[in-house]
Amino acid sequence: MSAKRYDKELGIKTTGLREWSGQRHYNRYEATPYEALETLFKSYKIKKHHRVVDFGCGRGRVALFIHRHFQVPVLGIEAHDKTYSEALENKRSHRLKNKRIPASIWLKYGLAEHYEIKRQDNCFYFFNPFSSNVFAKVIKNIVSSVKRVPRTVDLILYYPLPEYKEIVRQYPFRKINKIRVPGAQDGYEKFIIYRLKEEDVESAGI
Ligand SMILES: C[S@@+](CC[C@H](N)C(=O)[O-])C[C@H]1O[C@@H](n2cnc3c(N)ncnc32)[C@H](O)[C@@H]1O
Repeated sequence: MSAKRYDKELGIKTTGLREWSGQRHYNRYEATPYEALETLFKSYKIKKHHRVVDFGCGRGRVALFIHRHFQVPVLGIEAHDKTYSEALENKRSHRLKNKRIPASIWLKYGLAEHYEIKRQDNCFYFFNPFSSNVFAKVIKNIVSSVKRVPRTVDLILYYPLPEYKEIVRQYPFRKINKIRVPGAQDGYEKFIIYRLKEEDVESAGI
């Protein structure tokens, strides 16, 4: 099924790209392909107790897809003003089509690295939104949050670049799954899921 057809089913518009101008650390908008999301969620299930945060949510495809299919609270953070406005419009139309889903949808305008992780946040999604410097700050915030409020959290990386994996390896995350996308054009088209448990943070003494 084409991305436009998937969009229509969800009642949203998320296709296309948008470049930043003059930004070294922030990557362009490009949505995770729907086929990749379908593949991911055949192997990895979002649980009822999850609250999912998409760092660099773009027009909201991943957050709204999860909201529709798993009916859990989702939160997206986006720093590009125009893209953020489009995400809000998508949230509105998605809500109209999915009135019976009570779970909340929050979309925040701002920088992912400035977002204060909440105790309810426990599943974090990244599709290469920014440079590894910014990613390192966000991961540090996640680990600090787990130290403050002990809990198990999952990281989902789509298209994981070596520099991202290197940063994750600096903390006691365990790799729990690697999911290849059928028909991938290159070796990066996959998901890696990492889990951080409170006891692993404690025993690592960080
Ligand atoms: C590759 S897109 C991914 C979109 C969405 N997560 C998905 O998978 O469909 C990356 C998005 O991150 C946003 N972004 C880049 N740097 C950011 C930052 N520091 N804080 C928040 N959003 C950022 C970009 O504007 C872009 O929309």
